[in-house]
Amino acid sequence: MSRPKKNYNNYNKDKKAAKTENKPASTSPKRGEPEKRSRKKELSTITGMRDILPQDQKYWEAVRNVAKAMALAYGYDQIDTPILEYTDLFIRGVGKQTDIVEKEMFSFIDQGGDNLCLRPEATAAVVRAYIQHGMLNQTQPVKFFYLGPMFRHEKPQSGRFRQLYQFGFEAIGEINPALDAQLILMGWNCLNELGLESLIQVNSIGCPECREKYKQELIKYYKSKSKLLCENCKKRLAKNPLRLLDCKEDGCRQLRDEAPQILDFLDEECKDHFMKVVEYLDELDLPYVLNPHIVRGLDYYTKTIFEYWAADDIEGKSALGGGGRYDGLVETLGGREQIPACGLAMGMDRMVAKLREKEIAVPKPYKPDIFIAQLGEAAKKKALVLYEKLRKIEGLALAQAFYKDSLKSQLELANKLEVKFTLILGQKEIGDGTILFRDMEGGVQEVINFNKIEEELQARLEKYYKSRTTILREAETEESENTAETLPLPKRRKRHQDIIREEEEDEGERLEKEPEE
Ligand code: HAM
Repeated sequence: MSRPKKNYNNYNKDKKAAKTENKPASTSPKRGEPEKRSRKKELSTITGMRDILPQDQKYWEAVRNVAKAMALAYGYDQIDTPILEYTDLFIRGVGKQTDIVEKEMFSFIDQGGDNLCLRPEATAAVVRAYIQHGMLNQTQPVKFFYLGPMFRHEKPQSGRFRQLYQFGFEAIGEINPALDAQLILMGWNCLNELGLESLIQVNSIGCPECREKYKQELIKYYKSKSKLLCENCKKRLAKNPLRLLDCKEDGCRQLRDEAPQILDFLDEECKDHFMKVVEYLDELDLPYVLNPHIVRGLDYYTKTIFEYWAADDIEGKSALGGGGRYDGLVETLGGREQIPACGLAMGMDRMVAKLREKEIAVPKPYKPDIFIAQLGEAAKKKALVLYEKLRKIEGLALAQAFYKDSLKSQLELANKLEVKFTLILGQKEIGDGTILFRDMEGGVQEVINFNKIEEELQARLEKYYKSRTTILREAETEESENTAETLPLPKRRKRHQDIIREEEEDEGERLEKEPEE
């Protein structure tokens, strides 16, 4: 069979058309000409950035909640710094020769000629705030908690986003190693309380003096093996030799096993500090390993550094979080003296991804107990007001769909939301001063006095929760007694179709009765 000949004339025409399609839709039609229909280019998110959709929010909420609870428990107060900062803050803070500053910053010159960038991390910004607001005069350490988006123009790949979210804890103004250990504990607690298994990787990179000696030794070692290094590491050797230790290329990984180790170069003070941190970690019974190969990718670190690797990420390709001490950063950023500090940041995107991958259940942020349904214009008005009244009662979780007229679709939604009770207000109820109270589990409906809704609701909810607790307690006792008897099954939830059928009949009747507006 001969192939159909390509019509290259059309092909060129199509290419031309495709080009014009990508042009901005700013070409307005000439006067008198009919407006041509042009297909607009579909807009989408920027590479490496994404929408976090409503159905995923429960995971994010769970991560945020655990972070906030940890901050409260250990006395860290929230700080929000701007998303835009002077680029110079990160050049000086994070380091000129780090990947972040060399390749990953979203920086630009603004209309006023200032060089600004979207923050790639928050530690430098928190330290800037500490200096700018004179917090050196407060009781030390000053302990900060933050949460929000950071921006890094990294190669998009699994677990790497260009808009990434972090939460973090920073304690500025304290050198005691108990602080380092407690911060390591806080990050681990966050993962553990979410049900995420992780192994802590700990190392010390000493102070600038011991590190300098170590760097020289490292350069000597790697120079003798330079032919075996990957291209990237060959370039890094002169600029940032420590980074060779955490290169993920096989050849470089083999070389690093024989490389000199920083721990052998620590001076007495750095060694003592690190030994204390490790002692405290032992005391806390935390799952950690001493890993001489983690170096962290930011220049401000001194002494203790650490990362959290998921239990199944044995090479640490996608750390869930990391941090360390940064005793020189306050001074580097213009503080009048050297102030010790320590902190960590957790990668929320990666924590959420792990929660999903491991299918870990997280609580729904809002689970309504009561739905308020209405039928007819007068009922809608009364229900709007009723909702506002009930919404203010502590402990009542409500739902509604007042924009819907059909009772059928409101009950469908109530059923989908799995509320326990629905209050139904129609024309007849308004006339009688009552409201229908429907138990969604059995479908039983009662008429109650409209003015007594609050008492009735509270009594019924209390009764419901009491009976549930009894059922659960009985079930637990029976389980612990190891009986083979079956547990009392909760009443079958009335099937959705049954309710709808009944309601359609009801609705028909009601609508007949309702006077025309
Ligand atoms: P970092 O290691 O650059 O440290 O980032 C902390 C965590 O943020 C990482 O372990 C990872 O989970 C997450 N992360 C980093 N980059 C990305 C990305 N492109 N996509 C998704 N997640 C990412 C810092 O940022 C330091 N400020 C931590 C610190 C605080 N040190 C002292 N205090």
